Amino acid sequence: MSDDSSNPPYGILKGMKDVLPKDEKYWRTMYEKAQELADAYHYGRIETPVLERKELFTSSVGEDTDIVNKEMYEFEDNGGNEVVLKPENTASVARSFVSHGMRVDSKPKKMWYWDQFYRYEQPQSGRFRRFHQFGCESFGVKEPVVEAELINMMYTFFSELGLETKIHINNIGSPEDRENYIVELEGYLKSKKSYLSEHSKEKLESNPLRILDSKQEEDQPIIEEAPQIIDWIEEESKQYMMDVVEYLDKLEIPYTLDSTLVRGLDYYNDTVFEFFEPGREDKAQSALGGGGRYDSLTKQLGDKEEMPAAGFSIGLERVLKALRRKEQEEDFELEEVNQNNVFFAQLGEDSRKQALNLIDKLRQEGLFVDHNLGKKSLRDQLELADEQGAEYSLILGQKETKNGEVIIRDMDSGDQRTVAQKNVVEEVRELVD
Ligand code: HAM
Repeated sequence: MSDDSSNPPYGILKGMKDVLPKDEKYWRTMYEKAQELADAYHYGRIETPVLERKELFTSSVGEDTDIVNKEMYEFEDNGGNEVVLKPENTASVARSFVSHGMRVDSKPKKMWYWDQFYRYEQPQSGRFRRFHQFGCESFGVKEPVVEAELINMMYTFFSELGLETKIHINNIGSPEDRENYIVELEGYLKSKKSYLSEHSKEKLESNPLRILDSKQEEDQPIIEEAPQIIDWIEEESKQYMMDVVEYLDKLEIPYTLDSTLVRGLDYYNDTVFEFFEPGREDKAQSALGGGGRYDSLTKQLGDKEEMPAAGFSIGLERVLKALRRKEQEEDFELEEVNQNNVFFAQLGEDSRKQALNLIDKLRQEGLFVDHNLGKKSLRDQLELADEQGAEYSLILGQKETKNGEVIIRDMDSGDQRTVAQKNVVEEVRELVD
C-alpha cells in the first residue's frame, strides 16, 4: 500500500503543494527581492535540470546523510541511468561549473537560482516533499569577506521583506578535523547511548554528527555536554571564523556563535551558518535558510584542482509562512500584486463587440484591465469590479456605444462622468497615474 492512500486517486501527492494565485503576492514579492539582490551583488542566473544522476549527490551531499540515504526520489530512466529529482542545488551548480569549464572564467564566479527541489521527508509543518529555494553560489575565492557578503545578502533579503532573523554561525574546520572530531564525538555518545532518544540511537552508527541538531528533549543534556568541534579545528579555521564575524560586526549584523551547528550535508568545510525566526531557533525544521563553504566539492566532482566556494539557500515556503504569520500577528500587510486598475463593464450585444477593442487599447497602454464579457447585469459586473479592487470601472451601455462615448466610474466615490471613446485611454492613464 502506498504511504499516501488517504489522498483521493487523483489528489496531489502527500507532502506536495501547488503554488496558487491567491499566494501570488508572497511569491512575486520574494522573487522580485531575490532578483533585485542578485542583480545588486552581480550574480548571474543559473538553471539546472530537475533530474540529475544519482551519483552526483551520493558523492557530494554524502552517502550517510538523510537527504541521500532516505529522501531522494530515485528511479531508472528509459536509458538505464540511475537518476534522482534534485534534492538541492549546490551539487548541481558545482556540476555545471565543472562541466562548462568555468574555472577559467574571472573570479569570483557568482550564480543564483530560484528552483524547486524534492525530498522524500516525513511531511510536517515547514517540511514538504516539494519545496522552493532561492540560492546563491560563489566560486573562486576563499576570503572571509565572501561569507560576510553572503550572510549580508540573506540578512538583507529577510529584513527588506520585513522579517527579523537570528543568525547562527560556526566553523567546522577541514574534512580531516571533522573526521577526528567525529571519532571523539562517537565515543562520547556511545558512552551515553542508553540515555539517547530512539532516533539518535539510530544515528549513532550512520551519522553521529546529526545527533547534535536533534530537537528531542532527552538528547539535550547530552548534547550540551558533548565535545565541541571548536576544540578540534586548527588555529587557522578559528581565525577565519573570527575574521568572518568581524565583518558582520562592521555591517552591524547580529549573530550567535553556535558550536553545535554542523549542517546536514557532507560537502562543507570551515564556515557554516543558518537563519531562524526569533523564538523558533530550537523548533525542528525551522531554519529559514542556511549555507556555508565547500572548497572540495568541484574536485570531488572531477575537476583537476580544488576550487574555493561558498553559498546559501533560502527555503521559500518557510519564508512565505513567516510573512503570513507576521500579517496575522502585527500591523503589517504585503501589498497585492497586479491589482486591477480598471474593470470594463458593458451592456448589450453591440457594446460587447466594441468593448474588446477598447480593452485592447487600454492594455497596450500598460493598464491592468479585467472584464466579464458574459451576459451579466451591470450590477453583477460592478460587484465583481469591487471584489477585484478595481480603481475605476468603464461602462459601455447601448447609448454610449451609439454616441462613441464611455462612462468612467470612480469605484471609491461612485462619481461618474462620460468621455469620448477616442480619449478614454489618455483619461484613464491620467487618473491611474
Ligand atoms: P539545506 O539546509 O538542506 O541546504 O536547505 C536550505 C533551506 O531549504 C532550509 O533551511 C529550509 O529553509 C529549506 N528546506 C530544506 N528542506 C526543506 C523541506 N523539506 N521543506 C521545506 N523547506 C525545506 C541546502 O539545500 C544547501 N544547498 C545550502 C547551500 C547552498 N549550501 C551552500 N550553498
